[in-house]
Amino acid sequence: MSLERWRGKVALVTGASSGIGRAIAERLAAGGLKVAALARRAERLDELCAGEGEWLALPCDLRDEASLLDAFARVRAEWGGVDVLVNNAGLGHKAPLTSGATEHWREMLEVNVLALCVATREAVADMQRRGGTGHVIHVSSMSAHRVPGGSGVYSATKYAVRSLTEGLRLELREQGSPIRVSAVSPGFVETEFAAHYHRDPAAAAETYSRYKVLDSEDVAEAVAYLLGAPDHVQVHDLLMRPTEQPS
Ligand SMILES: NC(=O)c1ccc[n+]([C@@H]2O[C@H](COP(=O)([O-])OP(=O)(O)OC[C@H]3O[C@@H](n4cnc5c(N)ncnc54)[C@H](OP(=O)(O)O)[C@@H]3O)[C@@H](O)[C@H]2O)c1
Repeated sequence: MSLERWRGKVALVTGASSGIGRAIAERLAAGGLKVAALARRAERLDELCAGEGEWLALPCDLRDEASLLDAFARVRAEWGGVDVLVNNAGLGHKAPLTSGATEHWREMLEVNVLALCVATREAVADMQRRGGTGHVIHVSSMSAHRVPGGSGVYSATKYAVRSLTEGLRLELREQGSPIRVSAVSPGFVETEFAAHYHRDPAAAAETYSRYKVLDSEDVAEAVAYLLGAPDHVQVHDLLMRPTEQPS
């Protein structure tokens, strides 16, 4: 899908240091967008931002609101603000409802839900100031559409993302805004996600070895499709699984 209409525009991608976010950031930079890449691991961002294209590295912990607001301030100072926001950063912990650690539940809620809301508010303000167009894309999950066993809280954060996608769409409609909002909901994608989730390398490797799972680039191409769709087309949620994934 061509990103020609977005050439020279500014995208902010959260969670750009790894996996899906990194692939999205690279896809957008290859499509001619300026890309602000946000994550905690600064050295990974520096390496990414040394590649082809126009880049801005934004080292930031999304759990720290002041740091997130500073990141948006840097984009405004350097490039005038954000036209495209990809809320991709997120994590899962294996933290069942009957035995999980509160701190793990809190981290999932703060990164997957609260930081996504703060980033969305800031980006929409930029888009409105810059002429009223723009696109907000949430990287959700198939776990926004059914609840895998043992993942009740992770799934709850993604059900929240599903609600926040529709909630934002309705607010923008009420305001008569041309800004679009979309979600993409992947099944299994081979990234660092499973290593964080299981905290056990063998279990993580097993997650991705049962059948051919999605690559991060598959999701990045879906994001390019969402962005490249004509102005009158708003894709609300793009569900994508590995062909062999049963649930
Ligand atoms: N992999 C899958 O099977 C799958 C399936 C469906 C949906 N998803 C969703 O896809 C998104 C990306 O995950 P992934 O699979 O690419 O996992 P990943 O490889 O672990 O990447 C997660 C990204 O989020 C960032 N991040 C996490 N906590 C952060 C924090 N406090 N502050 C700033 N950045 C933070 C990480 O950067 P730093 O560690 O450098 O901060 C990293 O760049 C997530 O929303 C996930 O829920 C994944």
